[in-house]
Amino acid sequence: MKIAVPQHIRALKPYVPGKPIAALEQEYGIADAVKLASNENPLGPSPKALAALAAETAGLNRYPNGGSEKLVGAISARLGVAPECIILGSGSDDVISMLTRALLSPGDEVVIPQPTFLMYEFYARCAGATPVFVPLSKRAIDLEAVARSVTPNTRIIFLCSPNNPTGQVIAGAQFAHFLARIPKNILVVVDQAYAEYMRDPGALDGLSHVRQKHAVAVLRTFSKAYGLAGLRIGYGIMPPELVRLLQRVRQPFNVNSLAQAAAAGALADDDFLEKSVRLAHEGLDFLWSQLDRMGVRYHDSQANFFLIDVGRDADRFYEMMLRRGVIVRSMRAYGYAREIRLSVGLPAENQRFLDAFETVLTT
Ligand SMILES: Cc1ncc(COP(=O)(O)O)c(C=O)c1O
Repeated sequence: MKIAVPQHIRALKPYVPGKPIAALEQEYGIADAVKLASNENPLGPSPKALAALAAETAGLNRYPNGGSEKLVGAISARLGVAPECIILGSGSDDVISMLTRALLSPGDEVVIPQPTFLMYEFYARCAGATPVFVPLSKRAIDLEAVARSVTPNTRIIFLCSPNNPTGQVIAGAQFAHFLARIPKNILVVVDQAYAEYMRDPGALDGLSHVRQKHAVAVLRTFSKAYGLAGLRIGYGIMPPELVRLLQRVRQPFNVNSLAQAAAAGALADDDFLEKSVRLAHEGLDFLWSQLDRMGVRYHDSQANFFLIDVGRDADRFYEMMLRRGVIVRSMRAYGYAREIRLSVGLPAENQRFLDAFETVLTT
């Protein structure tokens, strides 16, 4: 191709998502595969979300409400933050993309603990910025090291709590101390995609910092506990000036009308949310008790997934689980060469994982 492509775009590597169930079944000639690889809600979508979505379909000939005002109002009421502080995205990925498009220029630095969710690096590189990686300490974000890595070129700090893939949270008290040390011209992004699953009462609640008008943007999503990953809808809560800036780079109709309607339905479905979170907690407790019984090492977690040390090459282990119809995630690409990440499923799926796991472990 003769078309000129900037070097920072040429250097990008496409994201590799978890293997879809249909692809695995076709590839390995198996039926009834279970996917425990992408931290999705195994219960399916909320019935209220589905009803709202169905009611919306008759209007699909029209463009969506570009500002998503109704849903923004519902989120505002639910979280106790002003509507001016909320911006919706086609998944929280889209909010990460908007933040990097709006704030970064080539040569800027973005501080990213490692390992963490891969999209922070991806979008920072798309903008030509330089990621500055800070290793985790005992699987948790090392706020001290993050603060030390700030330079005059730093524009954004990405913090994920609970952190994907380790499941550890930032303590609220430590974060307040950290934030006081960070120059006010740097945006601190707190990605709380798994906030609903947290059980630790001392865990950081990023929203309180947005309410206090700090230079903090909190990310939330409807993809996990709310069960709408396929519709692509998430949001950011941040200072109104930043929302107004993001409105300039936002695609006019970035969130489709079905996603807006379903998300409003899901937000109103307290029973479903409670059931989803309870299912994840019971699943975690059950899986951990069974792994304890087998003498397998794993890491505790405040999310709906956790890491397991399989004691051998994780890619190979992942392959062997695939052959038994169970999709997990190898953590080799994240730097944990002997670990897999498991998302909690339905009780029968968790049992199916354990059966396959025990077989693979002894082969
Ligand atoms: C930490 C974290 N942030 C954001 C996302 C993206 O979620 P969404 O589906 O809202 O784009 C994920 C998805 O796995 C995630 O793990």
